[in-house]
Amino acid sequence: MVFPERFSNLPDYAFPRLRALLDAHDPGAEPIAMTIGEPRHPFPDWVPEVIAAHAAGFGKYPPNDGTPALQRAIAGWIARRYGVEVAADRRILPLNGTREGLFNACLALCPETKRGKRPVVLMPNPFYQVYAVAALAVGAEPVYVPATDATGNLPDFAALPGALLDRVAVAYICSPANPQGAVADRGYWENLIALAERHDFRIFADECYSELYRDTPSPGALQVADAIGADPERVVIFHSLSKRSNLPGLRSGFACGGPDSVARLKQLRAYAGAPLPLPLQAVAERAWSDEDHVTRNRALYAEKYAIADDILGHVHGYVPPVAGFFLWLPVADGAAAALKLWREAGVRVLPGAYLAREVEGRTPGADRIRVAMVAPRDEMQHGLIRLRDCLYEAR
Ligand SMILES: Cc1ncc(COP(=O)(O)O)c(C=O)c1O
Repeated sequence: MVFPERFSNLPDYAFPRLRALLDAHDPGAEPIAMTIGEPRHPFPDWVPEVIAAHAAGFGKYPPNDGTPALQRAIAGWIARRYGVEVAADRRILPLNGTREGLFNACLALCPETKRGKRPVVLMPNPFYQVYAVAALAVGAEPVYVPATDATGNLPDFAALPGALLDRVAVAYICSPANPQGAVADRGYWENLIALAERHDFRIFADECYSELYRDTPSPGALQVADAIGADPERVVIFHSLSKRSNLPGLRSGFACGGPDSVARLKQLRAYAGAPLPLPLQAVAERAWSDEDHVTRNRALYAEKYAIADDILGHVHGYVPPVAGFFLWLPVADGAAAALKLWREAGVRVLPGAYLAREVEGRTPGADRIRVAMVAPRDEMQHGLIRLRDCLYEAR
């Protein structure tokens, strides 16, 4: 039997690698998991009622493009959050979470060639892994661009050679960033959009952590593109209810882009998509229309940021998180630190290298561990204290 070569060089996904690293060893204490970014704060209590009220919808095929009511709810949220008015029916596509959207957008929007050559898809390194698979799926060349301390923890795409930039069809960018926690400011977006205009590529802005911030809402790619009058087809933004509303199991998000881009996304979805069931679209509609639960959720993370600052503030190289729910902590060797932490303290964290690719002998983030602050507050606090005492000198 012949199998495709396309994905043959993919490393194992981060979590099987982690299991291979840790599971042969006993934990040094009652285990505390700080690996997966699965939100564990409560989701809004009205979710079951909305599902029950719309249960008849399970008997119907849901519309591929989402219900007009959900499209309008999302457009309303975009207007309130970013001050940008978008045509709900032409510029928004509800998704089953951002991950599938980030993948399918590449299928729908990355051309077969760019200026007669193999297209390039840019992405930060380390990064959320779907970007690389999307690039490989369309036969593009993935180019991993370091996003480390040296570059402000965001990729410096403008530093790439002009000839390579001319082949770029798509640039993925994540802000607030997983795993680095960095936030692209207005200037970063302006420069990136200008670069995209100059070299004629699209920006896929993964903004699924946008609502988890400490003080100031992060500026969004759409907001900046609109403010500077960029071509609306330049930017596609991706948002999710997974983190904002603690509904990772709802599998609900959206893409918003220019009308032509969204039309192509919708076309692919009409053939090959799996639209969100109608009762779940009703939940999503309500969730995008309500900010109270989001404000409460942020307050829970604010407590966690304060706890992290208190416990780890003295650690050399610790950067207080401004957004998202990850700590990206400096260590000598991420895999060695994760193993030591598990064997001596029972705390599970992810080695930074498992989220990165080696390029020219270097793996950005190999000297980091990623720590998810998703567990209930006391458990998380306990985990961070054990982590500090095991990896850094105790205070
Ligand atoms: C950076 C980033 N993008 C996208 C996703 C996918 O989220 P979802 O598909 O639940 O919206 C995640 C999930 O952890 C993520 O960390």
